[in-house]
Amino acid sequence: MSFLPTPHGGKLVQLFNPNYDFSHIDKEIEIDAVAQSDLELIGIGVFSPLTGFLGKEDYESVVANMRLADNTIWSIPVTLPISYEIADTLKKGEEIKLLNNQEVYGVIKVSEWYEPDLNKEALFVYRTQELAHPGVKRLFERGPVYVAGEITLIKKAEKGIFSDVWFEPKETRALFEKNGWKTVVGFQTRNPIHRAHEYIQKAALETVDGLFVHPLVGETKSDDIPADVRLKSYRVLLENYYPKERVQLGVYPAAMRYAGPREAIFHAIARKNFGCTHFIVGRDHAGVGNYYGTYDAQKIFSEFSEHELGIQPLFFEHSFYCRSCEGMASDKTCPHSKEDRVILSGTKVREMLRSGEIPPSAFSRKEVVEVLIDGLKEQIEA
Ligand code: ADX
Repeated sequence: MSFLPTPHGGKLVQLFNPNYDFSHIDKEIEIDAVAQSDLELIGIGVFSPLTGFLGKEDYESVVANMRLADNTIWSIPVTLPISYEIADTLKKGEEIKLLNNQEVYGVIKVSEWYEPDLNKEALFVYRTQELAHPGVKRLFERGPVYVAGEITLIKKAEKGIFSDVWFEPKETRALFEKNGWKTVVGFQTRNPIHRAHEYIQKAALETVDGLFVHPLVGETKSDDIPADVRLKSYRVLLENYYPKERVQLGVYPAAMRYAGPREAIFHAIARKNFGCTHFIVGRDHAGVGNYYGTYDAQKIFSEFSEHELGIQPLFFEHSFYCRSCEGMASDKTCPHSKEDRVILSGTKVREMLRSGEIPPSAFSRKEVVEVLIDGLKEQIEA
């Protein structure tokens, strides 16, 4: 008997068919990197129960109510944007090849196409219409028509340096079972893992069987630290500071939306599909700039019952190293003043790393810092 959670919506969607015969299909659409990643994530079941890009009824329901039309919780629309010119040529029921760089990655069977209300989507999903928000900027750049329909995934992306940590939900589920883990906590990040991240992960791990470190390696904004550089830092951190038998590293190949609270729900559901029973939500999860309150991404979970969500969020206060406590702490556990606390903003740390300056060991493990500085230097020189 499995202790792992049932996939969202009831079963793990599996739509990969590398032998799918598309020789009879002439029409093709060039898709961007975000759509290619969404296509694969739908195909391998990360976005279960989705079996394709959202139709109008589901889309409007997700935007307005954070639910699919059948009432299943779903907080971020997964859509396939096309131009007006392509929309003018579409026919209901036809199949279209989905290409990226001249390679066919999948096929969509067109069920409908529609013009989304992007202003509404921005306001409801991202809580802002400002183009300075990277998720909103991408939303408006991608518009203006969404084509919907079931997909078949024909080709998966090249995994490159990620291949040994690129697991599909069916694989992580098998791994967790093999390890005998009845409870597994998932951890999302788009950053290097700093001491505060490590602290909340390990605090969570004290209460569950396994930790699934699951950094996002899909599209991010240009000033985030690139995934290939981060990967080395995750490996060196885990090697030096984490117990092998209780921690599994994997990568989450989705695009970052920066949608804060709504994305926290989305991230939790995806990790449930990977087999996690718990999910860490700390300060300003998936946030950017000052668009969201520090704990908005925690508060949003109260809109759903844990039973219906099917994964238990674990909330953490803003954590830091405190010189007087001589350890990691949070407002909840530390009585000392601001002066004792080592708190650096993500932007500040990225600046330091890019200029080769070493953040204090109270902020980040030295092995991690070394790998990051070297990796960023190589990138600048290349
Ligand atoms: S993101 O994917 O959520 O944008 P980020 O690295 O900022 O990545 O955060 C990863 C996870 O750690 C999130 O759940 C976030 O809330 C949490 N987190 C980040 N920094 C801290 C901190 N100093 N204290 C507590 N939680 C944190």
